[in-house]
Amino acid sequence: MSRLTVYPENNPGTPRLRTEEPEVIAATLRQVGVRFERWDFPGELSPDDTSDTILAAFRPHLDALMGECGAGTADVIRLRGATEAYPAMRQKFIDEHTHTEDEIRFFVHGAGNFVLHLNGEVYDAHCTEGDLISVPAGTKHWFDAGTAPYCTVLRVFTDTTGWTPHYTGEKISALFPVS
Ligand SMILES: [Fe+2]
Repeated sequence: MSRLTVYPENNPGTPRLRTEEPEVIAATLRQVGVRFERWDFPGELSPDDTSDTILAAFRPHLDALMGECGAGTADVIRLRGATEAYPAMRQKFIDEHTHTEDEIRFFVHGAGNFVLHLNGEVYDAHCTEGDLISVPAGTKHWFDAGTAPYCTVLRVFTDTTGWTPHYTGEKISALFPVS
């Protein structure tokens, strides 16, 4: 189930909000300029389906989204358990960073947390199947799917060079383990 937990940035132990209501999650994130919505699932999709099958299934959603935001490409990324390469990959995702384009993700299977750091607060969004989240360009954030990740995620890009992080050098993610 999707969940949003909001903390003061200087008080990791005391959330001011914790909700599993999609409408409340969307409204809370909208207040800080972050898009969150639930997409209808286009029938049955297996975790073993190819990237092309998944992209084709969501094509109507993607076409509408890409028309709205001017994005040009989409692909599928899978995280499956604690592979040898995963710890280094996880560290790249979990260090606080920004991008020069919106980071737009849709969770097809599994779950992961986008954690946003803005306006003196930390917004930990636990995203699950059916969730779309768009982190605006320039917003400090990180991503974590835990030590044994399991997710299939659509990525939508406007910048054709792909995923490029600009690290802030802040170690704040260590203070806010995802929940
Ligand atoms: Fe990012």
